[in-house]
Amino acid sequence: MNEITINLPNVVMPICSEVKMLKGQKALVTGANSGIGKGVVLELAKAGADVVINYRGGEQAALELVEQVKKCGVNVFAFQADVSNENEVKAMFEKTFKEFGTIDILVNNAGLQKDAPIDEMTLEQWNTVINVNLTGQFLCAREAVKEFKRRGVIADISCSAGKIIHISSVHEVIPWAGHVNYAASKGGVMLMMKSIAQEVAPFRIRVNSISPGAIRTPINTSAWETKEAYDDLMKLIPYKRIGEVDDIGRAAAWLASDYADYINGTSIYIDGGMTLYPGFATGG
Ligand code: BGC
Repeated sequence: MNEITINLPNVVMPICSEVKMLKGQKALVTGANSGIGKGVVLELAKAGADVVINYRGGEQAALELVEQVKKCGVNVFAFQADVSNENEVKAMFEKTFKEFGTIDILVNNAGLQKDAPIDEMTLEQWNTVINVNLTGQFLCAREAVKEFKRRGVIADISCSAGKIIHISSVHEVIPWAGHVNYAASKGGVMLMMKSIAQEVAPFRIRVNSISPGAIRTPINTSAWETKEAYDDLMKLIPYKRIGEVDDIGRAAAWLASDYADYINGTSIYIDGGMTLYPGFATGG
């Protein structure tokens, strides 16, 4: 079978899209000053949403992103909070309500990896990953749902009372040796997302996940920065290119919009086919 080795160009979208499908909506994105979070912020802002940029470290990057987002003509501010800390999460939502009045979209993105073989993994590595990737998403989802239920549907803004997008991973279904804490956290996100979706659907609240494959971000530099690593990575990706943060951002903006109003309780895999068991393309 012939392998396609050319790097095809990605879709290039205008800086501030003409389609303001999120006009008047208020969004909060966690872990938003770099990587996928940053890509999501930019696409939500292009679609007309006001945005809160949550970050934990890297204040400078957050402030630079605030300036970039302002060019889309939307309201934006940055807020420092550790999503695994209940009081900091509550303070972040209070500030959001003070500045924006309410919230329509939560993108639960903050996440990290602390990799180690199982027999060397410390309890701290385990706890840190579960606390940020899973408990952090729970804490933010809880505050968002409270507000969605309190406020209900405002028909001029959206036909839904609120949207939560969990940023999960292909590793919610693909086991990952050497990363058991991370895979466990994302497997947890999958059933947490579906259970919340089932619970709050009658309130017209939509809850879904985006599950990225390999996206070019600081979390996985070692998987793409050298030619050898990149070529190895391509063995896992039938579509033969790495993902870019705007691949995720564009999907998030659409999923948060009324164009996706009947989508609820689903994981959308954005992975160039990584979940298609690429080893079986020629074997089995
Ligand atoms: C991980 C990345 C990895 C990708 C595909 C993501 O969830 O954070 O490090 O490259 O999954 O394996």
